[in-house]
Amino acid sequence: MTELFPVPAEFAKQALIDEKTYQEWYARSVNDPDGFWGEHGKRLDWIKPYTKVKEVSYTGDVSINWFADGTLNVAANCLDRHLAKRGDQTAIIWEGDDPNDSKHVTYRELHEQVCRLSNVMTDLGVKKGDRVTIYLPMIVEAAVAMLACARVGAIHSIVFGGFSPDALAGRIQDCDSSLVITADEGLRGGRKVPLKANVDKALETCWSVKNVLVVKRTGGNIHMVTGRDHWYEELTAKAGATHTAVEMNAEDPLFILYTSGSTGKPKGVLHTTGGYLCYASMTHQYVFDYHEGDVYWCTADVGWVTGHSYIVYGPLANGAITLMFEGIPTYPDASRFWQVVDKHKVNIFYTAPTAIRSLMREGEEMVKKTSRSSLRLLGSVGEPINPEAWLWYHRVVGDNRCPIVDTWWQTETGGILITPLPGATALKPGSATRPFFGVKPVMVDAEGKVLEGAVEGNLCLAEPGWPGQMRTIFGDHKRFGETYFSTYPGYYFTGDGARRDEDGYYWITGRVDDVINVSGHRMGTAEVESALVAHPKVAEAAVVGYPHEIKGQGIYAYVTLIQGEEPTEELRKELVAWVRKEIGPIASPDLIQWSPGLPKTRSGKIMRRILRKIAENEFGALGDTSTLADPTVVEDLIENRMNRG
Ligand code: WTA
Repeated sequence: MTELFPVPAEFAKQALIDEKTYQEWYARSVNDPDGFWGEHGKRLDWIKPYTKVKEVSYTGDVSINWFADGTLNVAANCLDRHLAKRGDQTAIIWEGDDPNDSKHVTYRELHEQVCRLSNVMTDLGVKKGDRVTIYLPMIVEAAVAMLACARVGAIHSIVFGGFSPDALAGRIQDCDSSLVITADEGLRGGRKVPLKANVDKALETCWSVKNVLVVKRTGGNIHMVTGRDHWYEELTAKAGATHTAVEMNAEDPLFILYTSGSTGKPKGVLHTTGGYLCYASMTHQYVFDYHEGDVYWCTADVGWVTGHSYIVYGPLANGAITLMFEGIPTYPDASRFWQVVDKHKVNIFYTAPTAIRSLMREGEEMVKKTSRSSLRLLGSVGEPINPEAWLWYHRVVGDNRCPIVDTWWQTETGGILITPLPGATALKPGSATRPFFGVKPVMVDAEGKVLEGAVEGNLCLAEPGWPGQMRTIFGDHKRFGETYFSTYPGYYFTGDGARRDEDGYYWITGRVDDVINVSGHRMGTAEVESALVAHPKVAEAAVVGYPHEIKGQGIYAYVTLIQGEEPTEELRKELVAWVRKEIGPIASPDLIQWSPGLPKTRSGKIMRRILRKIAENEFGALGDTSTLADPTVVEDLIENRMNRG
């Protein structure tokens, strides 16, 4: 029996949404979406109010439009409209990598910085609809850059600072960015990240980029290309401190964010203006039970969607105080998170299971020596949280006092879709619980048959849907339809498997496609494979995920070398370094197994199902192996399974 954690009485007293409200709002959101969202869309400031609400079709040439005839500006909603009431209130608390380095930026200061950068961008020729690539560490300028793009109507594409020059180049080329905003170097855990040097390398193959803006973060020695590279501080200091936000249509693009799928290169997920902001702000308020003045901290990086929706856009649209952390959980030591919580009196704390698991390993004392008495609510995102980690988070970090919101969602969904509402939902450790407003989960079997009741299956989403959903893949609407709406026609297919229990709670079991989730970071196995086979000594490679104690999933690579090459420890290290260089450190294989052959069908298709089972050490459950061209290949792989003791 799963233990049930009811809403604590103390929490219920002040909660924004109770069970009755959840039930009423949910029913209306799916039965009368136009009425429901027509009302909640008003949480934003519109220049021209919308008269249309939902225009969505998940069939045919998939089209998703919300509030389509309204106009607004995202930056004006995140900044200008707050100035009268809370211009002098902190918008961003920035906590640097070094524990002695922190600052508060008010809404008025942030507004001015954004206006200055907007003027700089305009002077550099950036216009509405142009793409701007942002490759920055977790510094305030990252939020400024996002908001300045939104203000002038440019589409930002943030590339996580841990990605390699090659990965960065691919993402610049795909959307033809004309401007890159970066820093000299990043700083994480006391170590420097050569951001500008990576940009220089990437730009050797990117012809679209006219200008590079460089924020001075460390003062490290870098190369500036005359005419192309400009210091951010110099240009913004000279620029005007006011700027009129550009009027955008609700369906004008706001940003592109590249994410991994099961096939091919990363897809440019495109989000638009009105629906995205409405959904990000609404979920931020209700899922985190955000009250005026609360200090809210999401530990994600702005390079991922969680940073977009729940560090910058959702919180700032709500006039919240959002904390931005440059460092890592274990620097200078493993109590850093809790030290920061105490230092800034954080009330709401949102992190990833992989961080919780790695801190669990360091022992309770690292947590218990801090007070954490300001905490009221905890959150989890990015991967399934195992009940053991959930219970530790609840007991040790939250002192049995704070509810945990386990929030399931995706880059594609723009905001949280399945989650507890902390004043309404009794919690079950390991379950993301119930759908947010507008979200209609549907479970289907492999043939697409809809399953009712308590079942396990593939998780799809039916209309009416929610306004924060992605609209297309940048430059490839056909691929959008094929990727998400063709597997189970009429439904959006999430790529995740799930179980629905007798109370209607959802338990996400993980990806059912060839995407793996390493420390909460999405990786396509195909991407790692193509990096491996690009190495001159590799003939063939197959990559699968396997259970990893800290990372959730680890990367397991089966590698076949070309004739005559010897499998040595040195070569193993070289291949790991190679993948890091090709994609970035997050893609480093954890285990490489030399495989003289890979299990294939007679038509030559690699049987990944079998490789997954072997990597998981589940030799008894290989399933049907009758279609194998050469069964001895499998025997050999099992014989040589890594770490078999
Ligand atoms: C997984 C991150 C279980 C899931 C916001 C999804 C989760 C993928 C959870 C999206 C959760 C995210 N429980 N699994 N609470 N949150 N996932 O695009 O497999 O980086 O499909 O978005 O992460 O990852 P993405």
